[in-house]
Amino acid sequence: MMENNSNHYYSKFPDANVKIHTISESLRRHLYIFKTITGVFSYKRLDLGTKVFIENIYIPEETSNLLDLGCGYGPIGIVLSYESPQSSVYLIDINKRAVWCTRENVKLNLQERKKNIYSLSGNYFEPIKNKHLKFDGIYMNPPLRQGRKEFLKVMHDISSYLKTNGSFQFVIKKKMGAAYILKYFKDTFPDENIEIICKRSGYWVFKCFHQL
Ligand SMILES: C[S@@+](CC[C@H](N)C(=O)[O-])C[C@H]1O[C@@H](n2cnc3c(N)ncnc32)[C@H](O)[C@@H]1O
Repeated sequence: MMENNSNHYYSKFPDANVKIHTISESLRRHLYIFKTITGVFSYKRLDLGTKVFIENIYIPEETSNLLDLGCGYGPIGIVLSYESPQSSVYLIDINKRAVWCTRENVKLNLQERKKNIYSLSGNYFEPIKNKHLKFDGIYMNPPLRQGRKEFLKVMHDISSYLKTNGSFQFVIKKKMGAAYILKYFKDTFPDENIEIICKRSGYWVFKCFHQL
């Protein structure tokens, strides 16, 4: 696990003064309101990579188990849940403020009708380690500012949490090494499929299949 430097959005307990912001954003033709706080990733506006990702990801139509890994204030997982209301959606982040925002945003956007959404705080898969969960989809806008090493490590754990034919979808800024990640994936997991769903505004959206 990385060091807990409290000046970063990926700190467990950020120390930035608390200031609440509100973001409104239309995603997949639905308007969402997100409450955010200083110390949380992209708290002033929806990150462009997140927007490109949400607009282009594949969301299964049938009832599924879905995971937003590193959820921040929750935009990806909340859209997954809105678009696939029958599915169970898990959102995990290490940053306690992010998880607080996510819980608020679930209430704001999904109201009482949502019982199958779980916002958990902890280091990647650690909060669900003993729950024997497998997912149809794992979605991630990875924290690459911490360096690639951490994300490559997560990639190795993904397959233990995917169902057969489940997918891992993620977004990488081209300048942050999207081509490197693609090559790394192909070299390291030669039996897995990886495709680029879209390249837009300097971001590449990837989808990898797990096929056993
Ligand atoms: C690039 S941000 C994306 C946030 C959100 N998904 C979005 O698109 O707005 C990456 C997120 O990963 C979280 N993160 C970093 N390290 C983590 C870890 N070890 N376990 C869980 N989440 C982590 C950060 O706190 C941050 O919220």
